Amino acid sequence: MEWILHNEEFIQEDELKISKEDRGYQFGDGIYEVIRVYGGNLYTAKEHIDRFYESAEKVKILVPYTKDVFHKLMYDLVEKNEITNGQVYVQITRGSFVRQHQFPDSSSPVVVAYTKTVERPVELMQNGARAKFIEDMRWLRCDIKSLNLLGNVMAKQEAYDYGCFEAVLHRGELITEGSSSNMYGIKNNTLYTHPATNLILDGITRRTILALCEELAIEVQQTPMTKDQALQMDEFFMSSTTAEIIPLVEIDGFKIGNGTRGVKTEKLQKAFEAKLNLGVKI
Ligand code: PDD
Repeated sequence: MEWILHNEEFIQEDELKISKEDRGYQFGDGIYEVIRVYGGNLYTAKEHIDRFYESAEKVKILVPYTKDVFHKLMYDLVEKNEITNGQVYVQITRGSFVRQHQFPDSSSPVVVAYTKTVERPVELMQNGARAKFIEDMRWLRCDIKSLNLLGNVMAKQEAYDYGCFEAVLHRGELITEGSSSNMYGIKNNTLYTHPATNLILDGITRRTILALCEELAIEVQQTPMTKDQALQMDEFFMSSTTAEIIPLVEIDGFKIGNGTRGVKTEKLQKAFEAKLNLGVKI
């Protein structure tokens, strides 16, 4: 039996009723979060919850409960579904109203959250994946974790069509991020990544990685890499809540470094894992 959170209620999937005029469904008018569960605990919950509220505020949707209540609802959902290792997906839309572009005078936001058991992508973490450069065609508020993911979806699909795992998005020559991840290059002892501006999502995993760089004495330069610079890096990797840290060993058919997981990437993975208190070793 799988429980779903609908506003403040825990229900079964077949009880979930979403209006045909829900603005999330018609306009992508809403925001979301993906929170990882390790050992039954919500990992970096506070950061994800804060970002959920920030995204909602940026699009002027009022989350109908306090952060503490929200946290408890997420935790209860994980517990009710007996999730040990997995994720919570949670979204809020502006609610339903007769279709019109401008905000309705009155509509109640609709929250839906559900859980899923997921494994860590251990094989990819070890062996790495291939990526493809794709022009970043998204809007200019990528800092908002918006439900509007068409640009991301199109880019990811194009990468998959080329047998690649992720799209390395670029605006002109400058790399921004991945279709559902952040991007990093390492050259000598310096890690390069796009600064947290409106052009990328400031990933929670990204923040952890930048903190780990300090612990590992890896210098950080938050400046965008050009495509050419990316191909000249010693190491390249992507990060996200579900992917954690995955080495990108080939971009557009060009090998990065020696085409295998880099030494510093592996160090970061180990340091990242050490914070998770897991038995599994990567
Ligand atoms: N995606 N950039 C984009 C465009 C993303 O969609 C994501 C995450 C990230 C990484 O953020 P974080 O480390 O906080 O997960 C960066 C999630 C996992 C998703 O949409 O499934």
